[in-house]
Amino acid sequence: MKPRLLNVGRLPAALVARLNADYDVTTLADQRDPQLHLAAHGAGYIGAVTSAPVGFDAALLEALPNLMVVSSFGVGLDKINVAAALARGVAVGYTPDVLNDCVADTAFGLLIDVARGFSAADRFVRRGAWPQGPFPLTRKVSGARLGLVGMGRIGRTIAQRSTGFEMTVRYHSRRPVADVPWAHEPSLIELARWADFLVLITAGGAGTRHLINADVLDALGPEGFLINVARGSVVDEAALVSALQQGGIAGAGLDVYENEPQVPAALMALDNVVLLPHVASGTLQTRQAMADRVFDNLQAFFTTGQLISAAPAP
Ligand code: 8YV
Repeated sequence: MKPRLLNVGRLPAALVARLNADYDVTTLADQRDPQLHLAAHGAGYIGAVTSAPVGFDAALLEALPNLMVVSSFGVGLDKINVAAALARGVAVGYTPDVLNDCVADTAFGLLIDVARGFSAADRFVRRGAWPQGPFPLTRKVSGARLGLVGMGRIGRTIAQRSTGFEMTVRYHSRRPVADVPWAHEPSLIELARWADFLVLITAGGAGTRHLINADVLDALGPEGFLINVARGSVVDEAALVSALQQGGIAGAGLDVYENEPQVPAALMALDNVVLLPHVASGTLQTRQAMADRVFDNLQAFFTTGQLISAAPAP
């Protein structure tokens, strides 16, 4: 008998197909009445698969009394109730490391794009504006000051990328991180005041909600740029819109939003903002590596009792 898995996430079809070979997989969203299905069959599942944007809450955990493991597609744990799962002895797997490169690449892509105005310049060429005059001058990237909010695995990768651009790096996190060569700045406001580019790569969730507020944006100032490859919840989006509209900051490069997939019309109306639809990890290679880790976490758990990548206790 194959172990029974409940699929609650939005997972790549190829991953679901691969899981189907070794597990008896049921997709919750395909059930006519998901709540009724959980009430009738919840006790039959010993494993679950989900994804970072869908998560796994305490109510779902309660509906699956014999669950042993949850394997999530993504590095973000902000929508997974890890504390409740671990308290019940349910192991939680996720996909760190394998997406560091692509998320760091995206941070730099957004940073260069918004500083040099490439997306805006592309629009300028396409609307036939060039013959009327040159595109305005922009902001040099190489040699600038890079302030990182968060210094986890992806933060380190971004900081390493910046050496190729001869940037000076400082970072803010609750505690200084051992073994990194970059200066820790205990005050977020001071980091924002110092930085030319403030790049967000901290975890989402209640602890960082609206960390970037009007005061931080004010400190970043009219020549500073904000880049967000973390979570939309980290930024007070209304404060960001008004800072951008009033010239309080120079521009923003965003991959994430408070209410995805909704992007405020006010942001779309601005030319000094680069808007991506949460694609930082979205390459064929990285999504394959993430899918492999979701699968391998389950295989390792069911053969050795240990996950390859276990979510840390919060
Ligand atoms: C998503 C992400 O997982 O890893 C994360 O936390 O935010 C993304 O990589 C991706 O959108 C797939 O669902």
